[in-house]
Amino acid sequence: MNIKELKKLVSDMSLEEKALQLTQYPVYELDEKTEAVVTGLCDLGGIDREVLWRTGTILNAPNGETAQSIRKTRRGKGIADPFPFMLDVIHGYRTIYPVPLAMACTFNTALIEDCAELAATEASCDGVDVTFSPMVDLGRDARWGRVMEGAGEDPYWSGEVGKAMIRGYHRGGIACCVKHFAGYGAAEAGREYNTTDISERNLREYYLRAYRACLKEQPEMFMSSFNLLNGKPILGHKEIMLDLLRKEWGFNGVVISDFGAVEELYEHGYCETGRDCARVAIESGLDIEMGSSVYASYLPELVRTGVVSEERLDEAVLRVLELKNKLGMYENPDRFTDIQKRDEVTLSESGRALSRRAVEEGSVLLKNDGVLPLKESAKIALVGPFADEHEIIGNWAGKGRIEESVTVKEGVESLLQKNVPYERGCSWKLFETDESGFEEAEHICAQADMIVACVGEHMMNSGEAHSRADIRIPEIQRKFIMRLHELEKPLVLVVFGGRPLGLSEIEEFADAILYVWQPGTEGGNGIANLLYGKATPCGKTVMSFPRSSGQCPIYYNCFTTGRPKKQDMPSALSGEEWRTGYDDEYNSPLYPFGYGLSYTEFEYSDFKLSAAKMKRGEKIVASVKLKNVGKRDGYETAQWYIHDLFASIVRPVKELKGYEKIFLKAGEEKRVYFEITEEMLKFYTDGGKYAAETGAFELYVGGNSRDCLKTNFELVD
Ligand code: NOJ
Repeated sequence: MNIKELKKLVSDMSLEEKALQLTQYPVYELDEKTEAVVTGLCDLGGIDREVLWRTGTILNAPNGETAQSIRKTRRGKGIADPFPFMLDVIHGYRTIYPVPLAMACTFNTALIEDCAELAATEASCDGVDVTFSPMVDLGRDARWGRVMEGAGEDPYWSGEVGKAMIRGYHRGGIACCVKHFAGYGAAEAGREYNTTDISERNLREYYLRAYRACLKEQPEMFMSSFNLLNGKPILGHKEIMLDLLRKEWGFNGVVISDFGAVEELYEHGYCETGRDCARVAIESGLDIEMGSSVYASYLPELVRTGVVSEERLDEAVLRVLELKNKLGMYENPDRFTDIQKRDEVTLSESGRALSRRAVEEGSVLLKNDGVLPLKESAKIALVGPFADEHEIIGNWAGKGRIEESVTVKEGVESLLQKNVPYERGCSWKLFETDESGFEEAEHICAQADMIVACVGEHMMNSGEAHSRADIRIPEIQRKFIMRLHELEKPLVLVVFGGRPLGLSEIEEFADAILYVWQPGTEGGNGIANLLYGKATPCGKTVMSFPRSSGQCPIYYNCFTTGRPKKQDMPSALSGEEWRTGYDDEYNSPLYPFGYGLSYTEFEYSDFKLSAAKMKRGEKIVASVKLKNVGKRDGYETAQWYIHDLFASIVRPVKELKGYEKIFLKAGEEKRVYFEITEEMLKFYTDGGKYAAETGAFELYVGGNSRDCLKTNFELVD
């Protein structure tokens, strides 16, 4: 359809029909027959089936057959025809790959893109039109459960990951939605849905950067977030929703609220009535209301009485129709639904292989005192609550099925082609106290050469509404690990988590720690390959690992203070007084941003710059020799950081500006190049300009944000 025809559709609608176009209800069950039965939250709004079928879009999706039959019966029958199904396809649809945080640790945008395409293909063939992804909220606080959905603490890298996901979704035939706009990741103390207070500069430089970067790939939608920002709910923030997103950034796609957020304007103490919630949201630029019925209840009357202009209403409705048009749904409402193809692509061997590769590249080897990789001849005992657990696919696992995942035990046994001794030892539950399984586990460990213990956090202890005040591995498992340690056998910990967990208490008792996040359907196979060296670890963590909850939020791109400590130690131990830090804790994280070991080793040397001075508008090139000095082939991610030493607004101690993931055979050496541009040196200066200031800069290169080579250069006029 052309724009004229779409506008005609809008003008033919009644006010009630327009309001329903802007209303999205969740449908948790649609029966196999064409007449759908609505269950779940819809009942709350008093919505009957007839009304539901007149809404513009649907939250959640049935399967392809039902989607097809619903669309067929709807065809030509109502103004709402056609309607898209929107679903949270976050890290896979049926073939689940590791959670987004783990995917970001791969530092492989091609792989991220391929995985997103796989998810989109499986989903679109099964009737899904739009996914609510990518989530690019900055994740600096490990207490916040939703860090698992994002790409970690670096704004540049979050943007790169978000862009790759969008490209993949588009390749796979679905539209997508950047979320949660804006600043949601800064929730106070990591408490879910909580207040954020972020200065404009901080917002622009750190929190907004990834959302903005995503615009380059033309996402169809943006989702507003739940949080208050500087005292106002986002849905009341014209400055963010209209002035910034629409006017300054020029986004012209659909803006949808998060679930129930329009109604929550009341809970926030911002709007006194439902009617006012509707007025505020539409005036702030919101198009679709998700999960509540405030628009449907009040918009027609607000327009009739002249409080809200019909023009504004029409603008929002037109955007929704334009989205459907872009999806090709007016020509063919079922353009991508394809049952035969779905059955071929779903959980296909190639999809599983891709997901397995993501496990291999996204897992992070945090420690290895020479015990990994395991020898196939070694007699291992496999213990711990996640050793034979299928619930490792991660939160927000689309239509993934727990029982379709491969456990570590299954993966190891299929690799070794034999059974391995296994005992669970204890449960993963947070407040578990039952130690009765310890003894059996100790018994099999005593007979083995080495112990592989699969421990950590259950997949439902991270994600939406799953913040944690204590980010350590649950107490029962810490006790279990201590008991295993007492057996004096080499101890390998395979750690599951949707966030970087606080590992400092157990770290010293482990001979190796492989951090596998929530690895998805192919978890057990990917982990087995890593443990036995069929794959070499190369993941680099995109969140600093706090030593304790008390360090949160902690991130590498922070500022120094006027009183930095001379040595990184708790003051009570070092005796250093009146310095920045804690009496009882280190300032540094246990493992820094960008950290991750391999089974081989890399050496950086001969760090050079093409010139020590860089003129405005020109470029200089840095390079470094990177050598694989170990005995195995492997990937290394060389990371480039810049520090602006003195500026009108103090700059972070390091900022990631580029990276290169390189494959080097054992003994091989390559020179890695990095071009420095003036653009990279820009920030919001004291005068409010986005510009680079002349003066001295430090340039770092290394395999993580802590252990780097350093050189200096100068920007001159
Ligand atoms: C609430 C979540 O915050 C959001 O991320 C998700 O997309 C919606 N619910 C829809 O499920």
